[in-house]
Amino acid sequence: MKVQFGAPLIDEKEKEAVKEVLNGPILVHGPKAKLFEKSFAEFTNAPHAVSVSSCTAGMHLIYFALGYGPGDEVIVPAQTHIATAHAVELTGAKPIFVDADENTGNIKIEDIEKKITSRTRAIAVVHYLGVPVDMEKVCLLANNKKLFVLEDCALAPGATINNKHVGLHGDAGVFSFYPVKHITTAEGGMIILKDEKLSERLNLLKAFGVDKTHGDRKIPGVYDTVELGFNYRMSEIHAAIGVEQIKKLDLFLKTRKENFDILADHLKDIEEITIIPQPSNNNIYSCHYCCGVLLDPKLKDRRPSIITALMEKGVGSSVYYPQPVPRMTYYKNKYNYNSSMYKNAEKFSDTMLALPVGPHLNIDHMKFISLKLKECLMELK
Ligand SMILES: Cc1ncc(COP(=O)(O)O)c(C=O)c1O
Repeated sequence: MKVQFGAPLIDEKEKEAVKEVLNGPILVHGPKAKLFEKSFAEFTNAPHAVSVSSCTAGMHLIYFALGYGPGDEVIVPAQTHIATAHAVELTGAKPIFVDADENTGNIKIEDIEKKITSRTRAIAVVHYLGVPVDMEKVCLLANNKKLFVLEDCALAPGATINNKHVGLHGDAGVFSFYPVKHITTAEGGMIILKDEKLSERLNLLKAFGVDKTHGDRKIPGVYDTVELGFNYRMSEIHAAIGVEQIKKLDLFLKTRKENFDILADHLKDIEEITIIPQPSNNNIYSCHYCCGVLLDPKLKDRRPSIITALMEKGVGSSVYYPQPVPRMTYYKNKYNYNSSMYKNAEKFSDTMLALPVGPHLNIDHMKFISLKLKECLMELK
């Protein structure tokens, strides 16, 4: 048996949809991107959805649209993908890192306030492994200080708090459709938000700051550029895949949860690991990106050997994320990282192992994963 960590489920529907686009004249600026935005807005119940070329592009676009630059600061979790920090850094603003909660790996909300200064403009949170951050607490803090809240939802489509989708609790949520995510468009991202004006501005700035879209141009060549902008659009080919993928998202989420529950049950008695907890509160639904476990700290230097041994036994795994962002060379050199400031983020980065639960897998795969992990840990003794 072979178990891949992530494998996009692409069938004839996506292939036909892409062929249809390729057989036509419109490869960008067309109806598929609009349809994917509509479908995503319906799925999340979002007032507005703006398709972009990646989650990173979407987050950068938002900070750029808000006018952040040198002298501004944005609170960012230390325990995240580098993109959450790069999106701030690219504007010239400074990411201010906050440690992780020791149990969930999400941002440690109690530490946010201490990092807020007169320069702080926004708080970014990440729903780590699809487990929602306590947004009520974050938004209360942000509202008191009049800060923008960006939710990095790259791992969280389908996650809700009190039946409201993540991304809609703060001011904007950004999703990723990279291949190992819940749904894929190969590369791609989506912003959801409530503010119509900001959504219009994002649409303007993601297409060079040009005042007329291709559809709006009655006469070719008659348009103006009113602002500085990017090319962060999603092509019709990518959007066509997304339109088909989102139709399957409910089923994908159901399978992920079933797989997670079975795998967690098989793993619960292994003393060398701790399963990163899922919410026990009925009002919170997590979307089970993977089954995240923390290895006993004594095994931290053995993680590469465990991952290699698992791979040799046919089980793909991953690490979310291999370093706290402020420990990555770029940020360490620039901001003088002091490891004692991010102890929990370090614990997660150094001992975390992500086991697959995606919809390309079934119950038998879950039994296989747990068996092989047990074998690997036995062989280490
Ligand atoms: C939390 C988080 N944010 C952002 C990204 C970047 O997403 P994209 O590749 O779509 O830019 C990732 C990618 O894994 C991620 O895990």
